[in-house]
Amino acid sequence: MADITKPNAVGAQFESLKVAIVGGTGGIGRSLSRLFASGGADVIEVGQTFRDADQKGIEFIKADLSSMSEAKRVADDLPAENLDIVIFTVGIFASYHKEETSEGLEKDMAASYLNRLVMIRRMAPRLGKERRKSSLKPRVFIYGYPGTNKLGNLDDLNSEKSYKVMTAHMNTVAGNEALVLDSASKYPNADFFGMNPGLIKTNIRSNLMGAGTLQFRLTEWIIGFFCQSVDDYAKKIVPIMSSSDLKASSGTMFNNYGKEIPSSPGLTQEYVSKFITQSEQLVEKWLQR
Ligand SMILES: NC(=O)c1ccc[n+]([C@@H]2O[C@H](COP(=O)([O-])OP(=O)(O)OC[C@H]3O[C@@H](n4cnc5c(N)ncnc54)[C@H](OP(=O)(O)O)[C@@H]3O)[C@@H](O)[C@H]2O)c1
Repeated sequence: MADITKPNAVGAQFESLKVAIVGGTGGIGRSLSRLFASGGADVIEVGQTFRDADQKGIEFIKADLSSMSEAKRVADDLPAENLDIVIFTVGIFASYHKEETSEGLEKDMAASYLNRLVMIRRMAPRLGKERRKSSLKPRVFIYGYPGTNKLGNLDDLNSEKSYKVMTAHMNTVAGNEALVLDSASKYPNADFFGMNPGLIKTNIRSNLMGAGTLQFRLTEWIIGFFCQSVDDYAKKIVPIMSSSDLKASSGTMFNNYGKEIPSSPGLTQEYVSKFITQSEQLVEKWLQR
């Protein structure tokens, strides 16, 4: 398996970089955001609650990205033309009982996947077009759980026929990996990468278990004990994300140590195309109501 060669040293300066992190207010996104900003990058965090007023170099855009109209607004507000790196970490884990957004979408699909599809459609053609000089092609990193051969349920992407928590969440996993592969073929002006961070102690499971419950605290304690911390992960990944020696081609997936992993064998070109078309139809159908 190919490895990424010569990542920038930790502590390397990112002064020339403009980075947008959609879901940058918490968890993995926040850790990446603070590390980029502490190295001098201009960072825009999109999320619901701003927690980084103490860190120079971070701007905030407030949005509820379970709404597709909000996703459109934010995509249009972001200065895509000047961005070097866009990172999508926004998301939740489906809850035991089906939750629906005011636009009629299953909430996990809306907040963890469909908003990214909407934003990429509006931003990708503009990405990096007005940068004065940059050695990097614009890069888009899409978080999820790629490489695990989760294909989703194409017959019921919005969980309208039946609802099961893992089925709903795996629809978002399949969707995000499909989005990487589809975007890599649609937008040659940027490079798209799928990111599988493995298990990391964050807030992602709070919607499933209930924030602050014993089950949530115990689970996160165990994950925190056995797996790398979010800051250790960020220290490995930020130098790779910004490295001018990143040779991987658009559409490549990476694991929790920044090593290339194969994409899911079931996500063929034909399947990806069907998945993305049905996702777009879903967004349009509910937005028109
Ligand atoms: N941590 C893991 O074990 C793990 C494992 C596999 C994959 N991943 C993936 O890694 C990515 C990042 O997850 P994480 O662990 O960092 O999760 P996290 O700690 O829960 O952070 C999620 C981020 O999404 C934002 N967000 C959630 N709902 C939103 C909404 N409706 N509108 C706007 N922003 C919203 C949160 O912002 P606010 O706090 O401001 O609401 C936060 O910034 C996700 O794609 C996740 O699926 C994580």
